[in-house]
Amino acid sequence: MDQFTKALPKAELHLHLAGAVKADTFLKLARKNGIALPKFGEVEELYRYDNLVDFLQIYDLVARSVVSADDFHLITYEALAHVANAGGRYVEFFFSPQVHQDAGISYQTMFSGILKAMDDAERDFGLVSRLIPAINRELTIDRAFEFLDLVLPFRSDKVIGIGLDYDEEPFPPAPFKLVYDRAKNAGMRLTAHAGEGGPAANVRDALDLLSVERIDHGYRVIEDAGLVARCIDEGIAFTVCPSSTVILTHWRDLTAADHPIRTMLDAGLKLVVDTDDPPMLQTDLAKEYRLLAETMALDNRTLAEFALNSLDAAWLDDSTKRDWR
Ligand code: ADE
Ligand code: ZN
Repeated sequence: MDQFTKALPKAELHLHLAGAVKADTFLKLARKNGIALPKFGEVEELYRYDNLVDFLQIYDLVARSVVSADDFHLITYEALAHVANAGGRYVEFFFSPQVHQDAGISYQTMFSGILKAMDDAERDFGLVSRLIPAINRELTIDRAFEFLDLVLPFRSDKVIGIGLDYDEEPFPPAPFKLVYDRAKNAGMRLTAHAGEGGPAANVRDALDLLSVERIDHGYRVIEDAGLVARCIDEGIAFTVCPSSTVILTHWRDLTAADHPIRTMLDAGLKLVVDTDDPPMLQTDLAKEYRLLAETMALDNRTLAEFALNSLDAAWLDDSTKRDWR
């Protein structure tokens, strides 16, 4: 099983850069850049939380420990090495420019370090990657428009879309409609976290108002049978993250008959298995496939189906996809 899940050619489509910083790298950067940390006995204790709000506080602290272009290069290169090690063949990953901006870092510094590491990772381990700057939905709509002003000049074959993340429960997608319209007109691909903490209506609004092409998490779609049927019909992909549900949501038991990933799978929705925040959730891409197989008694054919879905939902051109199969 270990060999099989690692060898499966799969794409990672839902990974946050700051959530992909190893604990010892976080400590090293925090020390170097004078970031005060809460007192912990062990390095492992840094990454201990049991809900999204507490998690996001540490996530922001990790992000604030990243200061220079070299720091951005280091965390990106390590994150991509981690994906390659787990048998990832292609990755689209999020990063959160606004938290770095609020720590006084320029967009030029962020992008230069990240983009160089993407090139280096492709050269060193053949891992092709694409970047998706994501809007922090907890900030204002004005800040989201400012995000676009600052991100769009970096749009390229490597910076290909935008996302929407942070705590969805008090911050639904609808107010971001005009921001997403503008990003779409500028040629950006679109995705958003929806239905993680918020209701099925947020999944519908992400599709109808934000025009997203896929949904990140999306678990609460199962509360609306009509919407489930529509998503199947339209082939909407959901980037689900098993360990993330166990640690950051109230769906803690992957063996439960009513775990939403089980229900989504049984309903016939198109699922892509992803990590969300691999070191911060003590996981990697192969491990997430394995975890689902073991807890939900899935066969290799189903795992291969997830891998095919990951390719299908990737924002790659069709000829590249054909070559990959
Ligand atoms: N940022 C990193 N992980 C996240 C998650 N699971 N939900 C929302 N924002 C996030
Ligand atoms: Zn996420």
